[in-house]
Amino acid sequence: MMACVRTQVGIVGAGPAGLLLAHLLHREGVDAVVLEARSREYVEMRVRAGVLEQTSVELLREAGVADRLDREGLVHEGISLRFDATDHRIAFTELTGRSITVYGQQEVVKDLIAERIAAGAPIEFEVADVAVHDLTGDAPRITYTDATGRGQELTCDVIAGCDGFHGVTRDAIPAGALTVYEHVYPFAWLGILAEAPPSHEELIYAYHERGFALHSMRSPRITRLYLQVAPDESIERWPDERIWEELHRRLAADGFSLTEGPVLEKVITGMRSFVVEPMRHGRLFLAGDAAHIVPPTGAKGMNLALADVRRLAGAVTDFLRHGRVDGLDAYSDACLRRVWRAEHFSWWMTSMLHRAEGDDAFQRRLQLSQLRYTATSPAAATSLAENYVGLPFDAT
Ligand code: FAD
Ligand code: DHB
Repeated sequence: MMACVRTQVGIVGAGPAGLLLAHLLHREGVDAVVLEARSREYVEMRVRAGVLEQTSVELLREAGVADRLDREGLVHEGISLRFDATDHRIAFTELTGRSITVYGQQEVVKDLIAERIAAGAPIEFEVADVAVHDLTGDAPRITYTDATGRGQELTCDVIAGCDGFHGVTRDAIPAGALTVYEHVYPFAWLGILAEAPPSHEELIYAYHERGFALHSMRSPRITRLYLQVAPDESIERWPDERIWEELHRRLAADGFSLTEGPVLEKVITGMRSFVVEPMRHGRLFLAGDAAHIVPPTGAKGMNLALADVRRLAGAVTDFLRHGRVDGLDAYSDACLRRVWRAEHFSWWMTSMLHRAEGDDAFQRRLQLSQLRYTATSPAAATSLAENYVGLPFDAT
């Protein structure tokens, strides 16, 4: 027999979006249940994003979940654009008065899960068969199988679809109710985590004839590195020696030497831009990667997910406490303004820095001209900087 439970907000997915939403609602006294398909260990180990905008850091601080972030996060006041084997620093703090913080997404996830479990608030891992129902009524439902194999039904006031790009909530919306905007890039990123101290104090975005490379980090002992590869590339074709050789080539610059170390993790990720409009269907609200994807070049994905749920938490609280629907009605349009700014910025960074098969000499000249302009014009550098550190929440 199916067990039936009632909650105010049913949240599908325990990534940054679902977990921060649950936390913000909990602080407002709103009940929620978080349902996650994977195990706690899996989501806490999953290596993904690493850069938090200053706006995201401030949001996590205001939410009272930034103690470890403030202790361990690495504050960066700029990045390097590397081309013609030379560094061109974009001085974020000088140009905008703001900075970014390098702190792994899985650390944000760990902090939020620990907080939820310490509060004794409901979160279920390893659930299966999640399906959402009655989205256009006033008592939408989620059915699922719990970790013990028992069928469950959760009746809610509102459902939050925070289940990422491959989740089930977006697909539950009738096709005619959504417009999809999509662009797939003719390349992918191969990312590694290496047990080696970073080779440079800041991130390096390198433009190279052989393709893009990125030097990032997680801590004073761990380097994160990415290489542009073919979209259909298989990881077997990239033994560690080949990866290091290619990184050395693409990151080469006067006075720079790349420190190698054991490769702890290796993965290939496709690149796409994707947005659905609206981010709502009845009482179902999509947030984060469930509604939009950006290519990783601008480091925006996790930040957008956090910005969405900041708005959703406020709107849902107003609705459940005071019966006000204006916040819920404004949710999709307000999020989409920030989403499209990030979509443009990520596409722009990607287009400036990657080499696509078949690109001709004309395109290469345009890219180099754009890179030189960005590196030398304070106006162009400030435009990159203000997008990268994160525009104020209501600026777009
Ligand atoms: P997710 O993190 O995908 O969380 C969704 C959750 O839902 C998952 O835990 C999943 O297991 C669960 N789920 C899925 N289906 C179901 C289901 N049917 N039932 C229950 N649960 C389900 N972003 C940045 O901001 N900065 C960066 O530097 C950056 N770098 C990146 C580098 C790489 C290599 C990659 C892959 C991504 C990067 N991103 C970056 C993007 C960022 O990781 C995502 O945008 C972010 O994870 C979105 O968070 P989310 O909570 O919306 O989705
Ligand atoms: C990282 C990822 C990104 O996509 C990016 O633009 C910068 C840094 C990272 O994983 O550290």
